[in-house]
Amino acid sequence: MVQKIRVSVPAKVILFGEHFVVYGKRALATAINQRLVVEVSSREKGGYHVKIENIPTFGLEMDLEHEKGGNIKALPYKDYDTATKAIAYVKESIVYLEKRYGIGGEGVEIEIKSEIPLSAGLGSSAATCVATIAALKDYFGVSGDLEGIRADAHHVEKAVQGAASPVDTAISTYGGYVLVEKGEVKRLHLPELNLIVGCIGSIPLSMDVKKASEMGLKTKRMVEEVKVRKESFVKVFNSFFDASDEITAQAINAIEDGDFVKLGALMNINHGLLDAIGVVPRRLSELVKRSQELGALGAKVTGAGGLDEMGSVGSVLVLPGESGDRIKAAIEMAGALVMDVKTGDAGLKIEAGSGF
Ligand code: PMV
Repeated sequence: MVQKIRVSVPAKVILFGEHFVVYGKRALATAINQRLVVEVSSREKGGYHVKIENIPTFGLEMDLEHEKGGNIKALPYKDYDTATKAIAYVKESIVYLEKRYGIGGEGVEIEIKSEIPLSAGLGSSAATCVATIAALKDYFGVSGDLEGIRADAHHVEKAVQGAASPVDTAISTYGGYVLVEKGEVKRLHLPELNLIVGCIGSIPLSMDVKKASEMGLKTKRMVEEVKVRKESFVKVFNSFFDASDEITAQAINAIEDGDFVKLGALMNINHGLLDAIGVVPRRLSELVKRSQELGALGAKVTGAGGLDEMGSVGSVLVLPGESGDRIKAAIEMAGALVMDVKTGDAGLKIEAGSGF
């Protein structure tokens, strides 16, 4: 119990079918090679100390203290009160593991380093849950397997958010590709793709508490907005849902066949549907249009999308074709973070520790 445990997990992108998956339609998601690392080691002083660093555009450090009745409270350092939301997942993971497996009773350092931007639809919350749970379970010698970690992490994500799809925790745990159909998660073996991710914003430390906590619940809000619109246009939306389902099926074939022209065209059509259901804010729309104009084979919003009033925070996915450098420069010029990513990255890796 004295050794240092280090685990890493991947970020995810939804390639096809976000939002429509909420209504039972197929969606395809994959792990990308942007990883989050959690290190757990012992601490002389009791309690938990959590340090989060290297998250693009973000950093945070704070103590977690036990209160009477077993609750755990975050004690913010400096003026980082607005950002405590970001570690709700770490806190809830500890509370859950203490209750479920009786871990704890000694001082623990938890250090998180991440390449995954927050609130951008890239699965940072699930990655935090999976990696924290895996590292703490290994540290405290709780036996189990990957499926147990996935299930624990999904439980924690739901506890924090109220609702969570099983996709993100499955991707962070198992890596590769997953197809989601009628709520079931199926692992697929598909070839690697080279994509560009353009990501607008994260939670800036200057943002007020209310806005920052709304941002943490962005996906919930977007799903609710789609539901409201669907209720006014049931038949129209049902035809969008069926179209999206077919797009996902054809996209899987295109990836298997290495038909990038078809794959790109399907991304463009998927983006059109996302725009039609109202989840594409202005700045993400501009990134997609600019990429298409510069010769991308395909471009689309990925994940929940966003809202103008929330600063267009969110991400786009581009299949660059021959124009990768020009597209990356344009995305950067528009003030977004650019990442070259490969799909199908490995899932949970125990880099130091006893393993499972
Ligand atoms: O932006 P993300 O990674 O939270 O993706 C949300 C995907 C939705 O389909 C909109 C919701 C869901 O639970 O599948």
